[in-house]
Amino acid sequence: MKETQDKLIKLARSAQEKAYAPYSKFSVGAALVAQDGSFYMGCNVENISYGLSCCAERNAIFKMVSEKGPHQKIKAIAVSTKADIPCTPCGACRQVIQEFSTPETVVFCKGKDGYVSYAMKDLLPGAFTEFEALDHDGSSTIIGSKYKTTP
Ligand code: THU
Repeated sequence: MKETQDKLIKLARSAQEKAYAPYSKFSVGAALVAQDGSFYMGCNVENISYGLSCCAERNAIFKMVSEKGPHQKIKAIAVSTKADIPCTPCGACRQVIQEFSTPETVVFCKGKDGYVSYAMKDLLPGAFTEFEALDHDGSSTIIGSKYKTTP
């Protein structure tokens, strides 16, 4: 896993150099390895209408899905930041990582003393993974993402 971590951090750093962050001036890079062994990178892309900005993690994940299709899962994902400032994925990104995770998925991000690895169940305990959709005729269907966390 150390080898994967080092490679992902290196790729995340290089993605970070591409960041478009003129408003926050906080460049972020992300890199992930999918279950099939392919790598995807992403950076944050901001907008003058601030709320339209997208984080590095989500951009990397959306690349994976657009290129590999809906069944690919994340084996591990790393995040790097400007000046190596400690940073875990934001709440929105945690929910998106969760959607394409398995119980083995690992998230590497900078802590106070070097990189730390997290499991998704610790980053997003009690994640929203299932709901009951009610139809007009009163019938219901359980809608769920593939991997459900234990509450
Ligand atoms: N950002 C990311 O890209 N990933 C994170 O994990 C945290 C925040 C971006 C969003 C915004 O462009 C900038 O960092 C400041 O919040």
